[in-house]
Amino acid sequence: MAWRGGRIYATSRFNGDILTYPCKKILAASVVCLCFCLLFPSSAEAGLYTASDQIVLLSRENVESVLVNSTAAIVVEFYASWCGHCIAFSPVYKSLARDIKEWKPAVELAAIDCAAEANRKVCTGFSIRGYPTLKFFHAYSKAESTGESFKGFPRDVRGLRHKIIEQLETHGEPWPPACPPLESTSQAEINSFFETNNVQHLALIFEESKSFIGREVTLDLLQFENIAVRRVLSNEEDLVTKLGVTEFPSCYLYYPGGNFTQLKVANEARTFYTFALQRLPGVVRSGKPPLDNTHLVTNNTEEPWRPFNRSRVYMADLESTLHYSLRVELASQTQIKGEVLIALKKYISVLAKYFPGRPVVMNLLQSINSWLQNQTANEISYVAFKEKLDNSSQAPDTALPEGVRWVGCQGSKPHFRRYPCGVWTLFHVLTVQAKKAGGSDAKEVLSSMRGYIHHFFGCRPCAEHFENMAQESLAEVTTLSTAVLWLWSRHNRVNNRLAGDLSEDPNFPKIQWPSPEICPACHTVKDNGEHRWNHEQVLSFLLSHFSSNNILSDYLEDESQVLAKQRAKHASMQIALEAQRRVERKTREALDSLTPPPSQPTVPEEEEEEEEEEEEEETVTDEEEEGAEGAAAAVEMVGKPTPWAKTEMEVSRGRRQANRKPSIVGMRMRNLQEDIVDLDSFVNQHYKAKALRVAASSRVKQRTLQRKEEQDPRPLFGLGMELDAGLGMVGLQRMEPDVRQQRKRLQKRELAGQYFGEEAELSHRGRWMSMLNIGFSRVDISLCVILYFLSSMCLLAMYLFFKNRLRLRRAKVALP
Ligand SMILES: Cc1cc2nc3c(=O)[nH]c(=O)nc-3n(C[C@H](O)[C@H](O)[C@H](O)COP(=O)(O)OP(=O)(O)OC[C@H]3O[C@@H](n4cnc5c(N)ncnc54)[C@H](O)[C@@H]3O)c2cc1C
Ligand SMILES: *[C@@H]1O[C@H](CO)[C@@H](O)[C@H](O)[C@H]1NC(C)=O
Ligand SMILES: *[C@@H]1O[C@H](CO)[C@@H](O)[C@H](O)[C@H]1NC(C)=O
Ligand SMILES: *[C@@H]1O[C@H](CO)[C@@H](O)[C@H](O)[C@H]1NC(C)=O
Repeated sequence: MAWRGGRIYATSRFNGDILTYPCKKILAASVVCLCFCLLFPSSAEAGLYTASDQIVLLSRENVESVLVNSTAAIVVEFYASWCGHCIAFSPVYKSLARDIKEWKPAVELAAIDCAAEANRKVCTGFSIRGYPTLKFFHAYSKAESTGESFKGFPRDVRGLRHKIIEQLETHGEPWPPACPPLESTSQAEINSFFETNNVQHLALIFEESKSFIGREVTLDLLQFENIAVRRVLSNEEDLVTKLGVTEFPSCYLYYPGGNFTQLKVANEARTFYTFALQRLPGVVRSGKPPLDNTHLVTNNTEEPWRPFNRSRVYMADLESTLHYSLRVELASQTQIKGEVLIALKKYISVLAKYFPGRPVVMNLLQSINSWLQNQTANEISYVAFKEKLDNSSQAPDTALPEGVRWVGCQGSKPHFRRYPCGVWTLFHVLTVQAKKAGGSDAKEVLSSMRGYIHHFFGCRPCAEHFENMAQESLAEVTTLSTAVLWLWSRHNRVNNRLAGDLSEDPNFPKIQWPSPEICPACHTVKDNGEHRWNHEQVLSFLLSHFSSNNILSDYLEDESQVLAKQRAKHASMQIALEAQRRVERKTREALDSLTPPPSQPTVPEEEEEEEEEEEEEETVTDEEEEGAEGAAAAVEMVGKPTPWAKTEMEVSRGRRQANRKPSIVGMRMRNLQEDIVDLDSFVNQHYKAKALRVAASSRVKQRTLQRKEEQDPRPLFGLGMELDAGLGMVGLQRMEPDVRQQRKRLQKRELAGQYFGEEAELSHRGRWMSMLNIGFSRVDISLCVILYFLSSMCLLAMYLFFKNRLRLRRAKVALP
């Protein structure tokens, strides 16, 4: 049944993926603005509702397909976006949509903006005279049906909900198939209930005849299996006396043998019954696998399951989120500039200020932050950022652990939870820390979150929904406490929208959080029995739940280990660089021996360089202080024309150009960006060497080759794009190992290049790979041509053969 939602609402992540992939491609090419204009049309659109509101948006194009022959009854609001009453009514209608979200298979909400020129005809067709008008369309409506008007409808959620129930009760045949019976039950029906119904639980709600709770709870549970809910009126004396019911309303669980128990809830009200019943053992959402905690501890997931306490927050999740956010999500942007750069600065600044991390991590965040805030240029390269992130200058006690270790954000399957869960947790923690620190800017954390989600969060539909919410109500946040509560309530809206969605981990159902179990005081009821959050209690719960005292450091990688790993990585990078430099030098020597050098100073320069290298090796520490300036220099280098690349080029290729430059400046550059997956520069060096040897005499040829390589698909972008393919959350998580593998692969290839340079040390694998690399131009092209020719011949032969056969057969048929 949940498929209906997926079809109509453009909220499914699967729809989003399609949109997203090409878009991020544009992003990578740094056409950021254009992209976001394309991406966020709905928020700019007129109309009072967006795709985030769980209301079917009707238009001339879809009105017929939605209303005619629908399996659910549909309530339609006809409104005009300029009408004041409609604007005032829209928040109520949105709340109603959230409130009866679980009823969707039986009754749905829709809306159409009659002020839109294109919809005018539709609205006159339904003879709409005033706004807002609500109409009820029965299930399986005919094309000519104009619906039943709700005359003088109530303007509150509760009243509307009751109105809808009354409409459903008088719904004639054909009855909406997903809608359970709403009438009250009797002793006779109960007696034979388990013979005719194959369910585990029967919940009986005893109530007065004018109460709606029984019917509401019945509808709230219509998407759940293994449970049936029936209302019993207080005058149904047999049952009332049999169960000894004294309180109305009250809820009892009734079992086949005639046993029964009262359902224990904090308040005898709809929300409490619903929540408790949805959580009974064996009760599952239709179409979802039964809850099963046993497989969690077995080998079903890729990693061993880490047991955790759901009422705690885990630093391992927060650090994993930082790792993923800074090393994976940000990496899709090669150049960060303009608005995006501002968003990044804000994000890092908030992290440096409020992240309750351990000292090593805080040192790192602070060093990135001070570096970033000192960047006066309008643009930085991700590479430069990454250098700071990986502490390339080897500042002591400074590191962000690499890799992810999800704990509280583990999912029962690899594609559930993890990073998005971490993002929520991180920002909840930050809003709470900001409140405790007592900053002056109430929106500081939330606007940095908004910027992060808008510009970097890979799940584009999520970003769109979040932006819709921010536009709608972020302005209302005026204090640090309301900031904490705002994020909590918007997160709950997302939970409401996603409950039952494909992305929901069956072991971690999306609930309105915190549940009555973990925070009973957070939930109260109004006089009319409606659920109400006690905001004061919620606030104090959030302040304690996301406080640093409640953060556990279980499963964290040891600090000394993290630092040792970083040092080892740094050292291996140095060695790799060393080797690479040697390749380069050999190349130049080869070139020099083939073509007489135009001027002499090449040799002394090389010697100088060698000294330089040795010096660098010994004085790594000296460079620590230089780190920032060096990186700044790296940024400066970008876009500087180099002797090797006089052709027009994108700025984003500046790094590669700099690498190509065979001078000391170029060398220093690379040293600073040791951690880049430097396939590009390798490929360039490599091809260059080959080209030089092959075409030493022909300068023209050499140049064309060079240019061709520059047009080749660039691995770094390729990497970014693959990440983007995982933009829907499902993919996002799965990409991680891929990325790592890919990185390893790239590094391997880089190594192969070094082997090529030092031919004496050529291993088999190295030879193989370098051969693959060398052989590309001539042999492969001729092979390609031959294969192409052969396959066309083959096709031709097949064509002729079948044609002949066909003719023969036709001839046969023609014969008598
Ligand atoms: C900004 C943003 C927008 C998103 N939009 C979408 C979307 O449109 N579509 C989509 O499919 N997915 C979306 N996601 C992902 C989705 O919200 C979940 O993060 C993801 O499905 C993983 O769910 P989860 O079960 O781990 O719980 P999450 O919702 O990620 O929650 C993580 C943890 O936070 C706690 N928590 C739960 N609710 C609250 C609350 N109200 N306040 C404070 N703490 C809470 C709980 O301990 C919970 O385990 C979005 C994520 C983010 C960060
Ligand atoms: C309406 O839907 C039912 C079942 O979903 C189908 O059998 C019937 O042919 C449909 N009628 C029209 C007019 O589309
Ligand atoms: C888990 O995997 C290990 C080795 O991979 C195996 O020895 C063990 O039996 C598996 N456990 C279960 C419960 O499948
Ligand atoms: C989980 O943490 C809460 C709060 O600290 C604590 O009261 C509870 O006992 C813990 N549960 C387990 C199983 O450790």
